[in-house]
Amino acid sequence: MPAPAARFIVGNWKMNGLSAEISEAAALADSLKDEPSPHRVGLCPPATLVERMARKLAGTAVEVGGQDCHGSASGAFTGDVSAEMLKEAGASLVILGHSERRAYHNETDAEVAAKVEAALRAGLEPIICVGETLDERKAGKTLAIVRGQIAGSLPTSLSGKAFALAYEPVWAIGTGLTPTLEEIEEVHREIRAAMKAQLGASGATAPILYGGSVKPSNAADILALAEVGGALVGGASLKADDFLPIVRAG
Ligand code: PGA
Repeated sequence: MPAPAARFIVGNWKMNGLSAEISEAAALADSLKDEPSPHRVGLCPPATLVERMARKLAGTAVEVGGQDCHGSASGAFTGDVSAEMLKEAGASLVILGHSERRAYHNETDAEVAAKVEAALRAGLEPIICVGETLDERKAGKTLAIVRGQIAGSLPTSLSGKAFALAYEPVWAIGTGLTPTLEEIEEVHREIRAAMKAQLGASGATAPILYGGSVKPSNAADILALAEVGGALVGGASLKADDFLPIVRAG
């Protein structure tokens, strides 16, 4: 049997983690040094930990990312962090358009697209999130919603650039619920078609991650699906003991 293609497994710590938790990231990197994973691995801690985590993980297999960035490089935007700042702190990735940002900070597709432009300008690889709410799924609107978010959040400048798309059904995040494997596959196929039509070759090859209640118990089944190029993992990425089996799955 040919070796399965490498996936991209990214941990999203959200607003969790003080300096003591850097030890979890270090434990993850140490384990991967002893027994490397075939997959690409990233961790996105809160902005306050990016620099320390990046220093700690320098030279390891674990990449570090931010969870959001502003669309401008600098300016009078109290409380915001720019892509250039994340890059200088040692990040190589940035999650953009996460549903928690879209819901609690009213981020629109156009704002997400501007943030993607900012990430590319700074040399960060964006991980752009899309996904439907439970009401939208119940109303049969999942594919239309996801198509609309892709059309609005992915600028044409992504063409030729490294990036990832994350499909995260809002109702699956932090709930323990997931779509069926068939439903995940259906949406990922649709996302691939939309990205290809919009961005050509880069849209045909950029990994499409699944996110929403990925756990050690379901990771292998999800990662084996067609067009699932990895996972974006929240709660189960906080502890090395939970995240490692996911990083090794698939
Ligand atoms: P969860 O979060 O794995 O805790 O469901 C995923 C995410 O929001 O990225």
